[in-house]
Amino acid sequence: MKRLLLISILFTTLFAAKPVEIGEMFKDSGKCKTCHLPIVKEWEQSWHAKSHYNNNEYFRATTDYVSRKTRKSLSGVKVECATCHNPRISVTSTGIEHEIITLMGLNEDSEVKKALESDDISEGINCVVCHNIGKIHSDKDETVRGINRVEWTKSGVMVGPYDDARSPYHRVEHREYMDKDPNKLCFVCHANDRSASGFVFTNMQDEYKEGGKLCVDCHMGSKKQGVAATLRVDNGKAKQREIREHTFFGAHTQSMWKDALSLSLEQKRDETIIHISNPNPHNIPSGFGSREIVVEAVFKNSKEVVGTKTISLTTYYKDKRGKETIPHLAVSASEDLSIAANSKRVLKVLNEKDADRVEVTLYYRLVNDEVRSILELEDPIFSQRSFIASKFTFLTN
Ligand code: HEC
Ligand code: HEC
Ligand code: HEC
Ligand code: HEC
Ligand code: HEC
Repeated sequence: MKRLLLISILFTTLFAAKPVEIGEMFKDSGKCKTCHLPIVKEWEQSWHAKSHYNNNEYFRATTDYVSRKTRKSLSGVKVECATCHNPRISVTSTGIEHEIITLMGLNEDSEVKKALESDDISEGINCVVCHNIGKIHSDKDETVRGINRVEWTKSGVMVGPYDDARSPYHRVEHREYMDKDPNKLCFVCHANDRSASGFVFTNMQDEYKEGGKLCVDCHMGSKKQGVAATLRVDNGKAKQREIREHTFFGAHTQSMWKDALSLSLEQKRDETIIHISNPNPHNIPSGFGSREIVVEAVFKNSKEVVGTKTISLTTYYKDKRGKETIPHLAVSASEDLSIAANSKRVLKVLNEKDADRVEVTLYYRLVNDEVRSILELEDPIFSQRSFIASKFTFLTN
């Protein structure tokens, strides 16, 4: 026991970041509204704002399932996931002592319980996550992510993209990962997503093709004229700045999927050849395991639909006993069918005999059937199809 304790203390001091208490004035996005209302409103729509256990059904169901299957306490798993989903948590790791205390039912007023129930983390990835990162340790082992990859600024020091900003409410400091190299900020969490046994199921940093656009160019929109703060600090007027949007629109926003991939069709003998290209610098689907692209080919003649063929581009996961499971408990995965960054995938379907035309449509789904049924997800957002692209062609024979 002593030995284990020692190891867990060592582990904590080696890898875990020191939590920094956030002053009352900066705790939640509500405190920023007086001077940054448009930004707060944009951020509220983002899924960064939904990353807390209480606000995302899929995240909650996965956390519960991991706890059940690994027999680790739910609070212990929550702390683990908080590394990226809730990085302002005040307890950054738990050890065997916590498991024992929880098993004995003695955790009622434990530090862990207080940390998990604190208002400080109820907003998930909020302003004082990204804007209080004082240092990013890109030199650390690539498995060290989220909280453990960063150092927080002192409470009330906002790190931002400008080197000449002044605010009466908080101190400001400039960092290069807010303007020149913002990918570095995104890769604090969007990389090396791994299962309980260390199997990496998504690694956006690995698949990302350098040299093209930055993450913020597409997920915060291009820079435009506007104001960073509505407070009149520039001779009685709000200061004009180049700004971006804080919506971080992504896979949960249907309109983002329109034309995210491009599609072309070709007829060869008795087959329809489907070319799908991905012009984006990371794989699609990506981000999280069990995402799905559905390719639907509807064969028709002038009167009716004569047949429909569906191909699913997704990944299935197996646990250590070879059973179907969710990404977070996987030891292995089926072949990666995603479309790689700046690349193309070619599929073939046999034409239907009585058809003289075919319409092919690409859709995206957040969670494939298998994982949706394992976790019994109910929110329709996880099963709905987002339209990507559609093409039509006559059959040649
Ligand atoms: C996921 C990280 C992240 C979160 C969360 C976040 N920001 Fe930002 N913020 C950025 C990045 C990156 C930039 C730099 C954008 C650019 O290139 O101009 C930025 C820029 C800004 C700027 C400068 C103006 C601009 O748009 O460039 C202000 C002010 C700001 N953020 C305030 C906030 C507030 C207030 C919140 C909470 C409601 C918030 N941010 C949440 C990443 C974040
Ligand atoms: C009383 C008004 C006020 C409040 C409240 C306020 N800010 Fe600011 N903030 C400003 C002003 C003014 C600027 C400078 C704007 C400029 O120079 O264009 C600024 C700039 C910033 C910047 C950009 C800094 C840089 O160097 O690029 C960030 C990030 C930021 N604020 C975050 C926040 C966050 C997060 C909160 C809430 C916890 C907050 N602010 C609350 C007035 C305020
Ligand atoms: C502190 C960790 C962290 C940082 C830093 C971070 N993200 Fe995220 N991001 C997450 C998590 C966790 C989610 C999933 C939230 C959820 O679905 O509940 C997410 C979700 C997203 C999504 C998906 C939204 C959707 O609707 O599907 C996009 C896009 C995104 N982030 C972009 C960015 C960009 C761009 C940056 C860098 C400027 C960034 N993130 C920085 C952790 C982070
Ligand atoms: C050229 C534009 C572009 C760039 C640059 C880009 N993305 Fe994306 N990203 C997309 C598109 C398009 C999608 C699919 C539609 C959607 O989800 O927005 C997407 C999807 C995502 C998703 C959801 C994926 C899924 O299937 O769950 C995440 C998370 C994400 N991007 C994060 C990032 C991060 C982090 C970076 C930087 C390393 C980045 N993106 C760079 C265009 C881009
Ligand atoms: C290394 C950082 C990191 C850790 C640790 C982490 N996640 Fe995530 N997680 C992310 C990022 C980044 C995303 C966003 C990817 C996207 O939107 O496609 C995400 C997305 C998710 C999603 C998809 C949510 C949705 O709405 O589609 C689930 C579910 C999830 N994580 C569960 C967990 C669980 C459970 C744990 C702990 C056992 C955990 N994650 C630990 C980074 C992390």
